[in-house]
Amino acid sequence: MMHLLWWSLLSAAVLAQENDQRDILDYVDPLIGTINGGHVFAGASLPFGMAKAVADVDGDNQGGFTSDDSPIKGFSHMHDSGTGGASSLGNFPIWPQICPNNDITKCKYSSYERQTLREDGSVKAHPGYFAIGLDTQIHAEVSVSNRSALYRFTFPESTAPPSNGTDPTFANSTEAAPHILVDLIDLPNSRDVGAVKVDPKSGRMTGWGVFSPSFGVGNYSSYFCADFSGANIKASGIWKQGFPENGTSLDADSRVDGGAWLQFEKPEENQQIMVRVGLSFISSDQACSNAEREIPDPKLSTLEELVKTAQDAWREKLEVVKVVPGGASDMLLRVFWSGIYRTMISPQDYTGENPLWESDEPYYDSYYCIWDSFRSIHPLLTLLDPYSQTLMIRTLLDVYRHEGKLPDCRMSFCKGYTQGGSNADVVLVDSYLKGIDAGIDWDLAYEAMLSDAEIEPPNWDVEGRGGLASWKELGYIPKNDLDGVGKGTKTRSISRTVEYAYNDFVIATFARDHQHDEAAYQKYLQRSGNWKNLFKPNQTSLLVDGEDTGFVGFLQPKLPDGSWDFQDPIFCSPLLDFTGCYLNPSGGETYEGPVWLYTFFAPGDMATLIQTLGGGETFVKRLEFFHDSGLCYIGDEQAFLKVFLYHYAGRPGLSSKRAHSYIPALFNDTVGGIPGNDDSGAMGSFAALTMMGIFPNAGQDVYFITPPFFESISITNGATGKTATIQNVNYDPEFKNIYIQEAKLNGQAYTKNWLTHDFFLEGGTLELTLGPEESEWGANVEDVPPSLGPFGANGTSEVERRWYSSEKAPEPARMEIGVM
Ligand SMILES: *[C@@H]1O[C@H](CO)[C@@H](O)[C@H](O)[C@H]1NC(C)=O
Ligand SMILES: *[C@@H]1O[C@H](CO)[C@@H](O)[C@H](O)[C@H]1NC(C)=O
Ligand SMILES: *[C@@H]1O[C@H](CO)[C@@H](O)[C@H](O)[C@H]1NC(C)=O
Ligand SMILES: *[C@@H]1O[C@H](CO)[C@@H](O)[C@H](O)[C@H]1NC(C)=O
Ligand SMILES: *[C@@H]1O[C@H](CO)[C@@H](O)[C@H](O)[C@H]1NC(C)=O
Ligand SMILES: *[C@@H]1O[C@H](CO)[C@@H](O)[C@H](O)[C@H]1NC(C)=O
Ligand SMILES: *[C@@H]1O[C@H](CO)[C@@H](O)[C@H](O)[C@H]1NC(C)=O
Ligand SMILES: *[C@@H]1O[C@H](CO)[C@@H](O)[C@H](O)[C@H]1NC(C)=O
Repeated sequence: MMHLLWWSLLSAAVLAQENDQRDILDYVDPLIGTINGGHVFAGASLPFGMAKAVADVDGDNQGGFTSDDSPIKGFSHMHDSGTGGASSLGNFPIWPQICPNNDITKCKYSSYERQTLREDGSVKAHPGYFAIGLDTQIHAEVSVSNRSALYRFTFPESTAPPSNGTDPTFANSTEAAPHILVDLIDLPNSRDVGAVKVDPKSGRMTGWGVFSPSFGVGNYSSYFCADFSGANIKASGIWKQGFPENGTSLDADSRVDGGAWLQFEKPEENQQIMVRVGLSFISSDQACSNAEREIPDPKLSTLEELVKTAQDAWREKLEVVKVVPGGASDMLLRVFWSGIYRTMISPQDYTGENPLWESDEPYYDSYYCIWDSFRSIHPLLTLLDPYSQTLMIRTLLDVYRHEGKLPDCRMSFCKGYTQGGSNADVVLVDSYLKGIDAGIDWDLAYEAMLSDAEIEPPNWDVEGRGGLASWKELGYIPKNDLDGVGKGTKTRSISRTVEYAYNDFVIATFARDHQHDEAAYQKYLQRSGNWKNLFKPNQTSLLVDGEDTGFVGFLQPKLPDGSWDFQDPIFCSPLLDFTGCYLNPSGGETYEGPVWLYTFFAPGDMATLIQTLGGGETFVKRLEFFHDSGLCYIGDEQAFLKVFLYHYAGRPGLSSKRAHSYIPALFNDTVGGIPGNDDSGAMGSFAALTMMGIFPNAGQDVYFITPPFFESISITNGATGKTATIQNVNYDPEFKNIYIQEAKLNGQAYTKNWLTHDFFLEGGTLELTLGPEESEWGANVEDVPPSLGPFGANGTSEVERRWYSSEKAPEPARMEIGVM
């Protein structure tokens, strides 16, 4: 497949396009999603960079910084973005201060004591740059290279009291002697052993520690190397349990809080001191060499140089997309570009920093988590940055090679918790179908997927699938599964069943298309229908006030003996015990959502599902009810696909309408502008793909066509250099015309309501003529996305789905559902 010298083609293509009047980066606001649980990382990072530096708050600090009033307690150099687990990384924070009367014993050492409020309105966040002022009159700025952070701290001139004259510890105003400490702590306070050294002459500090991952098992070691410039050293030492000591090294076990410090003479210029922090997961020496290589001789102005380099890197990533706004608001442009930006913060490229095994393969980390990212993050990366997606796939396979299973979640070189199925299978097959190929051992990928499908690991809370004996024998995961093979949290029997079924669906696809293994294809195809085994046709659903929703037939838990158990279909929705289905032993039979939601999850078998739920008309009513009644919480990733399922019922206009009901109402450009954890860019990629009008059905070569939120969008493919444009005719920025009346693909009438990835590989123009009313466009059976059966009147599902591996244009899908 196409893996030409894509990078040279890409830069040529980018150069060939005319420049926009405004810099794309003006539309990127890293502060979106930094409050109300968005947990977005707001600091400085290169695309997929290891160094991610920001001010850390004492409070809701999963991403380090939060846009609230919480105090700042450190500046640290590595983070994850948008996680729903505990705070991640944040190792070895540094802290600048002026000791009262320059007396080092009066400085504040522990993170509890030193925390300081921020100066109102002082935060500035741009790609590659973060700045904040503290109430101590110290101003902090930071930028990064791939594996090092560079801080520029500006100190006050005198030790005079910060804001008013009444603090008695600052009774006499003298020339300030800046003091900077490093702390061997991390954000979740997880450190076990650790150590630090400080060289009294050069001021260089090096150190390491053993820490815990934030949503997984095991430990990881991290190393740093800090160098200081801009002022002569006045004094140095270590600190322990909140107090400074003389000395040059500290060995700290888990009970010891400590680090090192330096006190400086008056800075040479502008009251500024530069701190360069090199990072590594291998050794302190490597942390130092990373810093020396990337930022050889930091001067005050080096910060601006790093910012410029970072901006260029971000522009290059984003410039593959062109937008003609057509009058769309700057708010929407900010939502859009910031969404793409956040999708490219993680996973982090730790190639060359992997202490676990020797390999020439790339190593990306923080797949946090694939349960979240398979749906929109990886499909967006595949679309906009196929090269990076290729390296990520190769990493996943190298993890399989060396650890025996694909991850479902991974961070800090540790296994993360599995939330449902083995969804790396979906990432692999999605990429395969979209031509991601260079250097990928697809036979190994098949082996890895079969391992997920067949071999239960000893601890399936962190990889693979549990209950595989039941899966094979009973065709569903029972509630109270006996499972004598492996250990894991035996909840989520319904959501695991539907996810395992879809995982088997994509494996079937791959078995046929890549392996040409008809027997395996049939086997997994069969298993992909297992969701039906938990469908209870006569199950009804009442609302909390007892009113019948009127819909009949829902997934329900089943016991090992085949008898039904019961879970209220609205349980764990926003309407009833919303948080009852988290990842703990008392969680429900669905994960982070109700039966209502999971009953819609059969992404490869939509025609069967529609028939099972009573046909197209009832299906659409049920989907409308789901969105309108408050049952749907769009801030969790499993909800995303539900916005577009109308396409399968021949009602693409309703998908468009629904998309506009969520954006911008719940996805906007405020600091609270995302409805849930961003989970490494999930909310951002959902918004971006939806606004481009090409939301994918991950794991299949299917993009649902809806009108872009802008007059037109173009994407230049990184593999082929070709540009695909989606052009709205009759576009209006008030969004009255949101219904496609007719479409033309490269000038030819196009009636299918979906696209394949070929469009992006080969380039071309899709022209959508819009109007204010829903039309018949895309409504016919042969125009809806492909799906398994039903072909027989009785709903049997023998199937042919040649379309996704076809060299030619897709064959029409065959479905029999009510056409509206
Ligand atoms: C950062 O690393 C990436 C590889 O992940 C590389 O392509 C890029 O050039 C590096 N950027 C800088 C500024 O060194
Ligand atoms: C002045 O600063 C001190 C110490 O920070 C604080 O306790 C006091 O409330 C402040 N007084 C005024 C009038 O702001
Ligand atoms: C301030 O200076 C005066 C006179 O030099 C001295 O007596 C006093 O102790 C100093 N105050 C503090 C808090 O150091
Ligand atoms: C970290 O994990 C390794 C491997 O499991 C283990 O041998 C080691 O004792 C752990 N170290 C700490 C400090 O927990
Ligand atoms: C550290 O050394 C300085 C200078 O020699 C001395 O004044 C001070 O008392 C020492 N502090 C400790 C805690 O030993
Ligand atoms: C629903 O169907 C089950 C069998 O699938 C049956 O046992 C049960 O009695 C039915 N319930 C109602 C209310 O009809
Ligand atoms: C922005 O999005 C948030 C999160 O979804 C939502 O709570 C808020 O109401 C929205 N604000 C505006 C002005 O639309
Ligand atoms: C549907 O099922 C009925 C009864 O089992 C059978 O007689 C009929 O042939 C089936 N029709 C099809 C199209 O399979």
